[in-house]
Amino acid sequence: MEFEELDLEHIGFIGDGAGITWAPLILIEGKEREVGTEELVIIENLNGNRVLAVCRRGFGRSPGLRRDRYTPGRAYVRIGRRPSSSRDSFDFELSVIGEVAPDGLRQNKLIIAPRSEVYRFRGGNPFTLMKVDMRYEVGYYKDHKEWRVPALPEYIPYHIGVFCTTGWGKTSLVRHKIIPLLREAGYGVLVFDWKGDDYAPYFPGKVIRADEIILEVEERGLDDMAEHLIERAYYCGSSGYQGAIRYILALTDVLHNLNLDEIESGAELKAILLEETPKYIVNYASTRYVDENIRLFKSYFSRLSDSIFDECLRRMREGRYSAEDVIEMARGDLRVIDLSGRESDEKLRIFLEIARVLRYRMDVEKQRIGLALVIDEAPQYCPYGSLGLQRETTRMIVDLCALGRSYQLPIILLSQGIMGEIGINAAVRRNINTWFVGKVHPLDRGEAEKLLPDVDLEFLQSLEVGHFYFFGNMSPSPVPLLIRFEVEEG
Ligand SMILES: Nc1ncnc2c1ncn2[C@@H]1O[C@H](COP(=O)(O)OP(=O)(O)O)[C@@H](O)[C@H]1O
Ligand SMILES: [Mg+2]
Repeated sequence: MEFEELDLEHIGFIGDGAGITWAPLILIEGKEREVGTEELVIIENLNGNRVLAVCRRGFGRSPGLRRDRYTPGRAYVRIGRRPSSSRDSFDFELSVIGEVAPDGLRQNKLIIAPRSEVYRFRGGNPFTLMKVDMRYEVGYYKDHKEWRVPALPEYIPYHIGVFCTTGWGKTSLVRHKIIPLLREAGYGVLVFDWKGDDYAPYFPGKVIRADEIILEVEERGLDDMAEHLIERAYYCGSSGYQGAIRYILALTDVLHNLNLDEIESGAELKAILLEETPKYIVNYASTRYVDENIRLFKSYFSRLSDSIFDECLRRMREGRYSAEDVIEMARGDLRVIDLSGRESDEKLRIFLEIARVLRYRMDVEKQRIGLALVIDEAPQYCPYGSLGLQRETTRMIVDLCALGRSYQLPIILLSQGIMGEIGINAAVRRNINTWFVGKVHPLDRGEAEKLLPDVDLEFLQSLEVGHFYFFGNMSPSPVPLLIRFEVEEG
């Protein structure tokens, strides 16, 4: 949209002390009832350019009521009468977003002149002035549903962080806005769903359960299973493992040749094993004893309960996918790994297994990946002070971040805390270049102040659910923008 097509309304003038990135706005009488914080405005700079800015801190002034001296106004108040409003005024501090140029927004370099006129938008999307591709959006601008806020997809591989206290909309933002944006930009998405209820229920048909993934370090062989079964069958009457080796070998052969898809229950598995194993015992027993061995096998094996075979079936069915398979499935598509029901260390091992493959492909094979990793509950993977396995996952995430920039592997980290004990590891945090920050934990006030220097901290702390400040290199604005989004499931 061109500037001339926008519908603007005059709301005030620039006051004394304006700079290049900052300017005070004095509102025309009555406008203080209509213009709120985070409103976007245009400054017709008397020094010759046109500047887009945003209202931040607001002030109401009434010099007749000053606190540090006696005034007639204060005397009126003391006797219960309303003091005069004739000297009242209302100001906003404006943060400059940029200079409006025909080819988009660029950095403002001119001092903003006091007395310049200030306008607000009544119609048209101010973000179209940025002249960036509006296909990539992260939500809408605070109260204006039709003002879609664009994002710059070329910076996606510089990694994204989403922070706010629990229950204030991190997961929802990622589900509704960031994942669709990643897909639109051509990335496959692999989500690690720590609790299994944040993503898995919303992406039917795209979920991989943790127990479907084979962990190389603890791959359970069918040999172990055969040994286990024969042991449960009292080694078919032999004195121990050595004596029962022929049964174990025979059973292993049968298990290797099974077609799991055709077996429906433990009882059915048991029947097949009882039927098939004798055919293989022939290969391992000496001719003299074959018949006796088969008889013993049948007699002991048939006493095992069906539930033992149900368990075997479950274990054989799990571990269908290797880390490579998972990556292939997610590429150009989306997969959610449902980590629920596993010990924390096991969840981290699954992450590591997949991450190791990705690191190898980037570091050694120099492969472009094109896959985004969504790490919700990030402090579980890379906490502030990491010990044990978390230390390994933290290092791994740092490595992935460093390589991911060159090989298109963006990482999206979600955390309730930014720094310190509730936050994520500093080495990881340094790799985040695009930020979504909502209402933060009180322990993070200091950090929030550093990240959002011109935002009123009290306002930040009172943000409603689903409101985030968006800033960093994916944002076309140099100053944070307050965005919102709708949660329409389905
Ligand atoms: N933009 C929004 N509008 C309305 N409700 C929202 C919005 N974002 C989140 N919610 C609601 O808030 C609750 C918590 O959201 P969630 O994304 O799980 O937060 P978090 O991941 O930060 O703990 C959910 O019930 C969700 O439906
Ligand atoms: Mg969440």
